[in-house]
Amino acid sequence: MIDFRIDRERCTQCKQCVGDCPSRIIGLDGEGFPSIAPEKETNCLGCQHCLAICPEGALSILGYRPEESLLLKGGYPDPQQLETLIKGRRSVRRYRPENLDPELLNKLLDVAWHAPTGVNSRQVRFTVLDDRDKVARLRDEVMAGLLRLDREGALPASKSYYASFIRVWEKRQIDLIFRDAPHLLIASAPKSASTPKDDCMIALTSFELYAQASGVGTLWNGIASWAIDEMFPDIRRSLGIPDEHLFGYAMLFGKPAVHYARTVQHQPAPIHRVP
Ligand SMILES: Cc1cc2nc3c(=O)[nH]c(=O)nc-3n(C[C@H](O)[C@H](O)[C@H](O)COP(=O)(O)O)c2cc1C
Repeated sequence: MIDFRIDRERCTQCKQCVGDCPSRIIGLDGEGFPSIAPEKETNCLGCQHCLAICPEGALSILGYRPEESLLLKGGYPDPQQLETLIKGRRSVRRYRPENLDPELLNKLLDVAWHAPTGVNSRQVRFTVLDDRDKVARLRDEVMAGLLRLDREGALPASKSYYASFIRVWEKRQIDLIFRDAPHLLIASAPKSASTPKDDCMIALTSFELYAQASGVGTLWNGIASWAIDEMFPDIRRSLGIPDEHLFGYAMLFGKPAVHYARTVQHQPAPIHRVP
């Protein structure tokens, strides 16, 4: 049963919760207060729009109380700041050789976890390497596997250009794949979810923006994603990624050893306006 509570002292019966419910399951009881009929409860998405929209903070649902929410008024960054963040975010390929403060790391994950998911399924799982030694061990395993594939001529043709990265590692111990980053984040979600790939990518995009706003560098990692997910199932399993999960993507992160002074400039977006 959904724990749906109305503080009758606070509720002004404005009905905003009724109007905003995406499943339209909130009605009014005999006294005009919002309520959910038991037979409609299974249609609740758990999106908490009712809690979010209530101007008076009169509505609790699923055990969540309005007092625990952040208030939105005046709390958003201004558009100019957000534009600078979106345009100023860079792929960071140079990192300081130190772990992030665990509290900051947890905060980044917690905020990213608030990213939207299809039908609010909220099943994205974060697999985190929280220590640079763990990333170094993973790197060694992946590099050894790739070296083997390269020697056996078993790299897929579409990935043959990775060979140069692998050889640089072999000859000079220069890491062009994991970039000596102290941390790695992998987002995965059950294949049975409605939109698992999209959910993972949106979670990682949210993670990246919040991380960079917090002074933490990030790098989407296509090579590591491909290697772990497609080439080395044992490594994937050793990281604890469930077999029934779709591998979303891998992202490196850590304190940057590089500082960018300005945004880059891109051509205008190719926009097709439907006539
Ligand atoms: C899905 C995706 C996969 C990527 N994979 C890699 C990668 O494996 N290695 C790498 O160095 N950069 C990777 N990048 C970073 C891109 O090369 C980078 O975004 C692009 O060069 C533009 O630079 P910017 O991110 O600083 O704007 C990836 C980016 C995306 C979005």
